[in-house]
Amino acid sequence: MKKFNSIFFVAIFSLIMVSCGDNNESKRSGGAMASNVAERVYVAPGEHDEYYAFLSGGYSGNLTVYGLPSGRMLKEIPVFSQFPTNGYGYSEETTPMLETSFGFIPWGDAHHPDISQTNGELDGRWVFINENNTPRIARISLEYFETEEIIEIPHSAGNHSSSFVTENTEYVVAGTRFSVPYPQEDIAIDQMKGNFKGPLTFIAIDDKGGMSIDFQLKMPGFNYDLSHPGRGDSHGWFFFTTYNTEEAHTLQEVNASQNDKDFIAAVNWKKIQEYVQNGGGEEIDAKYAHNVFNHSTQTATTTMMDKVLTVDPRDVPGAVYFMPTPKSPHGCDVDPSGEYIIGNGKLSTDLTIHSFSKMLKAIENKEFDGDAYGIPILNFESTLAGVVKNGGLGPLHTEFDDKGNAYTTFFISSEVVKWKLGTWEVLDRQPTFYSVGHNMIPGGNSRKPDGKYMITMNKITKDRYLPTGPELEHSAQLYDISGEKMELLLDFPTHGEPHYAAAIHADKVKANSKKIYRLDENKHENAALNESETRVERNGNEVHVYMTMVRSHFAPDNIEGIKVGDKVYFHVTNLEQDFDVPHGFAMIGANTSELLIMPGQTKTIIWEPKKVGVWPFYCTDFCSALHQEMQGYVRVSGSGSNVPLKWSLDGD
Ligand code: CUA
Repeated sequence: MKKFNSIFFVAIFSLIMVSCGDNNESKRSGGAMASNVAERVYVAPGEHDEYYAFLSGGYSGNLTVYGLPSGRMLKEIPVFSQFPTNGYGYSEETTPMLETSFGFIPWGDAHHPDISQTNGELDGRWVFINENNTPRIARISLEYFETEEIIEIPHSAGNHSSSFVTENTEYVVAGTRFSVPYPQEDIAIDQMKGNFKGPLTFIAIDDKGGMSIDFQLKMPGFNYDLSHPGRGDSHGWFFFTTYNTEEAHTLQEVNASQNDKDFIAAVNWKKIQEYVQNGGGEEIDAKYAHNVFNHSTQTATTTMMDKVLTVDPRDVPGAVYFMPTPKSPHGCDVDPSGEYIIGNGKLSTDLTIHSFSKMLKAIENKEFDGDAYGIPILNFESTLAGVVKNGGLGPLHTEFDDKGNAYTTFFISSEVVKWKLGTWEVLDRQPTFYSVGHNMIPGGNSRKPDGKYMITMNKITKDRYLPTGPELEHSAQLYDISGEKMELLLDFPTHGEPHYAAAIHADKVKANSKKIYRLDENKHENAALNESETRVERNGNEVHVYMTMVRSHFAPDNIEGIKVGDKVYFHVTNLEQDFDVPHGFAMIGANTSELLIMPGQTKTIIWEPKKVGVWPFYCTDFCSALHQEMQGYVRVSGSGSNVPLKWSLDGD
């Protein structure tokens, strides 16, 4: 009961902090030197931002792209959720992207974007991002700014400690937050302890970005919360925080907070990779979807997989160790040198820093304090590098600059604290508005962070913007971290519930950004590549319309002979080859969405006419002075009619 009281106190205290943050006094302090600060985030009209920032959209399921320092939102990239704005998840080409072993899932909960790396530096090829609810990992191309691939993670639940990338993009990891029966089976919930497992999945990435599950590590049934790869000397290792090492199955807010220390799991993935390459591990049944978008055919396909390789950590001696870490650690961050592993006990005021080199020594000297399910537990003191004392309340996440400093967010005390690696002294603290979750420094997850800006992503918005009814967008804040003290520069609203972000210098991305889809490379099976290829074909009650669009007409724009009960496929190709000339396609009564079609692109939508009449379609994107003229008609006759099928443009 004592434990319960302390948690209750923490909860009350957090409410007080939030309501304190509400008063105008603290807000004014952020507004000092306003004009000087404004200059530092001002990007003049027509100029470009210095960084691309990719913010997870949380329960929007998508990824949003912002420019920094301006905080201007540049794009929302649909990933795990249907997106009627452009037809993603509605068009025939993209619905396979949302297929899973549970069937078509139109929504996801996206948390942690991470950018691909080469030699420990961001390389600007891809962004990976996880989906928690129906465990999946997506890969987004930074040439097209489109989702190219989604792989489902079998045997996982609450795919939270994901999708972090090793320093040569060898692997992306996906750790399960909820321990579950492995494989799933029908057993009593109170049989959890000892029976549930916590699989950690290692997804290999090939040269083209292609994802495949290399192996799943069958870990004890704890909750695996967050993770980060080693780098530099610790490259080859991965670190995962755990909580609920109590293996409680109910009232976790109390029952999962009993142990003074949980663990950081240190996984030597190189050792396990070697083990599986030599035939180790056991292949077990696992049903999961692997969805790939092909830019040549402009079409996604789903492959249902049925096997996964599982590895019992006890079969690979020296591959996995536990480092005791106080108070239900959440964030698990590795500094740019790879030496320090920071575990933030979310019910603590201190930060625990483990040393990678001390960890290796402790392993060599067998400085163990017993084991958990056969996995050695290292002695706490033996791996401890230091403690940041009284940093704040409720530490969550840590990022790094290029000068040996770390920046940790504190959810309960609603602040970000700068401290020195090695001396562990607190150097500065700044309030956040309000209740910060993750922070992000461009390149902060690499060997070469860029110590100019930091953003914080705040869970509570309250009075930061004009009120918009009960539901508010979340709030991000931009800090200048180039000096000794952090300076708050800017607030900007975000979309969904951004959990984490990744950012990269624009120079590494913008030159590769595609401007059009080339018509001569369009291998879509239903493309009409010029107006002479346009046609309408009937096959039973299926009608296929092969249509083109160009400023400012559709071909054909008159279609007759469609009947109630038909299933009409509009395969629409945009013939433009100029940058930024999309056309839209909207059909009255369509039960899906519009299509937004980029130059050189083909998309397909199905329309099932239900009523007799003459029904218009039109272009949704204001493409030219004659955009309002860009329209057409479909004549729909009764189901038994014998109106012949015909189509035309200007009578032809
Ligand atoms: Cu094409 Cu508006």
